[in-house]
Amino acid sequence: MKKDLKFNSKTIHGGQHPDKAYGAVMPPIYQTSTYAQTTPGGHKGYEYSRSANPTRTALEQALASIENGSHGLAFASGLAAIDAVLKLLGPGDEVISTSDLYGGSYRLFKKVFEKYGIRFHFVGMDNMEAIESYINPNTKMVWVETPTNPMMNIIDIKAVSALTQKHGLLLAVDNTFATPYLQQPLDLGADIVMHSATKYLGGHSDVVVGGLVVKDKSLADRLYFIQNASGAVCGPMDSFLTLRGIKTLHVRMQRHCENGEAIAKYLQAHPKIEKVYWPGFETHPNHKVAKAQMKGFGGMISFVPKGNYDDAIKIVEKLNLFTLAESLGGVESLAGHPASMTHASIPKEEREKSGVVDALIRLSVGIEDVEDLKADLEQALS
Ligand SMILES: Cc1ncc(COP(=O)(O)O)c(C=O)c1O
Repeated sequence: MKKDLKFNSKTIHGGQHPDKAYGAVMPPIYQTSTYAQTTPGGHKGYEYSRSANPTRTALEQALASIENGSHGLAFASGLAAIDAVLKLLGPGDEVISTSDLYGGSYRLFKKVFEKYGIRFHFVGMDNMEAIESYINPNTKMVWVETPTNPMMNIIDIKAVSALTQKHGLLLAVDNTFATPYLQQPLDLGADIVMHSATKYLGGHSDVVVGGLVVKDKSLADRLYFIQNASGAVCGPMDSFLTLRGIKTLHVRMQRHCENGEAIAKYLQAHPKIEKVYWPGFETHPNHKVAKAQMKGFGGMISFVPKGNYDDAIKIVEKLNLFTLAESLGGVESLAGHPASMTHASIPKEEREKSGVVDALIRLSVGIEDVEDLKADLEQALS
C-alpha cells in the first residue's frame, strides 16, 4: 500500500513501520554494536552494526522510498557514499564527470582514486556530443551533479542517460542540491542517486550523513558489499536525525524554493550585483531543462558582486542573518565564498574556467522570513 503513496506522504511514511518491539512510531535509536544470538547464526536479522542496524535500516528504506528506488544505503558522509560508488571501479577504468562539481568530490576523484589508476575527465555537460567524445572502451561511469555546485548549471539527466544506456555505462547523479522533492534521477534513467544527506535531507545542520539509492538488486548487492567491507556507515543517532529531517523535506523545500526565488530576483535587480546564477531565470542557459526536469528551482543561488576577492570577503563578513559557513540545505540561511572555502581544493585556473571566480558568493537560502533575509543582504551590500 505504501508503494503507491505520493511524494509528500512518502517523506513521512515511505518504508516505515512501527517498531516491532513496542510499537514505537519513530524507530528507536538502536545504540548497539552487536545482537544476541540464540545459536550461531540464530539472530533476528541483525548481527553486527557495521553490517546492519535497525535505525539505519529505517533510514535506508526511507531513502529508497523518496527516490523511487528499491534499495537505499546510508553512509558516514556524502563523500563516504561517493567513495563506495567509485570502489565499483578498478584500475584502467574511466569516469566522465561534470566540470564544476563539488570541490570535495573533485578532490576525492583526483587525489585519491586517480592514484589507484582510475581516470577522470571533467566536461561541461550541456552538450551531449562533448560527453560522447570522451567515451572509449575504458569508460565505465558518468558522474553528474545537477544543479552544479556552485554555478547552478543544470544537466539534462534524461539526455545523459540516453547516452549511458547506449554505451552500457553506469550513470550516477549527485542529487544533493535538488533533493527528490525537485527531481528524481532514477525516474529519468540514472542507475545510482547519491546524497550528501548532511544538507537538505537532514535539513537542520546537525548531522553528516551520506546516502545512495539504486533500483537494481545486483548493483545494490555490490554496493552493500562495499559498504560492509569498507565500513563507512553512519551511526544510529545520525540515522535517526536524518530520518526525522526527511519527514519535513517537502514543506521545507517548498519554502526554500519560495525564498530562493525572492532573493534571486532581489539580487538581480540590485545595482551592486554583476551576475546572479539561479536556474529559475528565463535567461539562465539551462532554464528550459530545469523547468522540464525539476518541480521548482530550489534555494541555492550564486552571485558575483561588483568588485574583487576582497569586496566579496567584506560582504560575507558583514552578513548577520546569513551565517558565513560551509554547507547548505539547513533551515537557516548560510553564505559561502567558494574560492576560499568549498572550492579551495580546486586549482584557481581550473575553477575559473567553470566560472568560480574570486568574487563569487554562494547562498543557501533558508526558511526564515524573506524580508529579514533581504534586509540582511541590503546592509551587507551597502
Ligand atoms: C553537492 C555535494 N555533494 C557531495 C558533498 C559531500 O558531502 P559530505 O559533506 O556529507 O561528505 C557535498 C558537501 O558539501 C555537496 O555539496
